[in-house]
Amino acid sequence: MKIDEHITGKIKNARKGFALTGAGISAPSGIPTFRGPNGFWKDKDPFSPKSFRENPQLVWHWHEEMREMMRKAKPNPAHYALTEIQNSFDDFAIITQNIDNLHQEAGSKNVIELHGNIYRNKCNECGKKFGEIRSGEIPKCDECGGLIRPDVVWYGEIIPLYALQKARELVEDCEICLIIGTSGMVQPAASFPLLARENGAYTLEINKEETVITNYLDDSLFGDVSEILPELSKTLL
Ligand code: APR
Repeated sequence: MKIDEHITGKIKNARKGFALTGAGISAPSGIPTFRGPNGFWKDKDPFSPKSFRENPQLVWHWHEEMREMMRKAKPNPAHYALTEIQNSFDDFAIITQNIDNLHQEAGSKNVIELHGNIYRNKCNECGKKFGEIRSGEIPKCDECGGLIRPDVVWYGEIIPLYALQKARELVEDCEICLIIGTSGMVQPAASFPLLARENGAYTLEINKEETVITNYLDDSLFGDVSEILPELSKTLL
């Protein structure tokens, strides 16, 4: 697809920006998104501290399944193109809602994980951090004996404060905001591009369809992210 000059012109000379990414950027890697016809939440309630309290083993098992699927997934051309775009800026962060580590595996730096990372774990009682644990049975903390859980943000939990702080700094001072593969349904992430635009940033959405935030943004490119982002990167570099 040819990307309009007026869009590339806005981005070409910018030096500072950020991308907000969602499950859509990893969909071409074979990872289901959360909403939509085959969304991950199609046949299960979203994870929450309540579901973990009620059935910790089941929630651990679901995350093990998710981890297995994500381990097999590889970054797709969209992840690599975003790394190239990031490298063409003086200062460019990636605020991701994804927990699949694919931005890092595609060589992106300065990745702010709003919802954590599926390969990190923590004790549900004392908060001790653990790396990747491969276990069918829910593991126990060697410090306090508490149950270990994935270090991801579930419904009803707060976003890590360092991530919120970083996001706030970016929103207050950036020229460009790319909104990539997110339905814009979850806060506070969905507000970041709108606040950035309030502060003068040019906002460009890349999605296969309109979203609830499309009308609040400057421009949108509709299509497959794994085709659009490489094209955008090519025209910028
Ligand atoms: N190319 C472009 N866009 C795509 C593609 C694709 N190949 N595939 C899917 N999309 C878009 C969909 O149109 C949708 O707008 O990606 C978006 C995915 O939306 P969601 O499934 O809602 O995922 P996301 O926005 O990341 O959800 C945010 O919700 O459940 C929580 O914690 C979870 O981080 C997640 C958060």
